[in-house]
Amino acid sequence: MLAKRIAGLEDAARLKTGRWSGWRPFRVAVLREEARDVSSFALTPLGDAPLAPPLAGQFVTVRLGDADDAPVRSWTLSDHDDAPDHYRLTVKRLAGGTGSARLHEIGARGGTVWLRPPSGRFTLKRDGFMRVVLISAGIGVTPMLAMLKAHRARRDSPPPLVWIHQARSGETHVFAAAAKDAALAHVFYSAPRESDAGHEAGRLGAERLREILAPAYTTSPFGREIELPGIYSDVYVCGPAPFEAMVRDALTAMGVPPGQIRSESFVPAAQPEPVIAQARVDFGGVIAQWTESANPSLLELAETAGLAPGFGCRSGSCGACESTLVSGSVEHSPSPAIPLAAGRILLCCARPASDVVIALD
Ligand code: FES
Repeated sequence: MLAKRIAGLEDAARLKTGRWSGWRPFRVAVLREEARDVSSFALTPLGDAPLAPPLAGQFVTVRLGDADDAPVRSWTLSDHDDAPDHYRLTVKRLAGGTGSARLHEIGARGGTVWLRPPSGRFTLKRDGFMRVVLISAGIGVTPMLAMLKAHRARRDSPPPLVWIHQARSGETHVFAAAAKDAALAHVFYSAPRESDAGHEAGRLGAERLREILAPAYTTSPFGREIELPGIYSDVYVCGPAPFEAMVRDALTAMGVPPGQIRSESFVPAAQPEPVIAQARVDFGGVIAQWTESANPSLLELAETAGLAPGFGCRSGSCGACESTLVSGSVEHSPSPAIPLAAGRILLCCARPASDVVIALD
């Protein structure tokens, strides 16, 4: 029990360690080709400053060039280390995808990219005692690799882990060896080749999901074994939106409590409640009027006023829109997923609670 608490506290402390503000340069090197059009890259920081350890499942926001207006993309880290000296990204080169093609090109020549620190709320809980279930499809495998490794690094007796993955075939199955290595992996190939082995043919559906997950399992939370119904699992889902929706619906129909289902694309839909009717917003001399009826975030208001603040996730996770509140007060909703120093705000999830003056970074 104590070991679980310590693991949770260590992960919380990790969020504050080695973080930097603004963009930091990293050298990119190709590690290997993982599957057709998919490569892993090592991103090593220039300079000796410590590197922020990520929580398993987090992403980094990457600026693909020196210029302020260079393309910015976010990619999930595909490896986990409690004390990293580099980050690993595994990125599929998308047809017509300028960001992914540019990263592949920069990696091939050993070039430089600029990063914000790791962020994101889709992270593995490492102090739970319920079974961990990872469900991924396609390139959604990347956070699962980090989670698998972080789970195995737990210092207590970790609960069982099940990994269910959907790919088209062995040719496109990224990290196939890791899935084979995982004790309880279920791999589905929708269009298997004759040479593919160790998989179930077809697509994962609600019925098969129930067969795999509904049976009771044993876990040892207090040093002794107990049996829990299958619905009591911590579930992490990552894949294309229709896949995530199918899995979420199937799990909910099974009786898995919604709070135990986490997915990378799931963002609460509720519109934040305004706390005032209107406010004057001064963006360093550019004046905008904020109103309760329109209820824009300060990022949206700045863009409407013709400004172009930096942004990445637009959901309070990456820190790319961090700015200084010179005077007045704001409300954040959702709450920022990253620590903020006094007087700093995230434009994308902040709304004024009074007239405000803001200095854009
Ligand atoms: S754009 Fe990512 S935190 Fe605001």
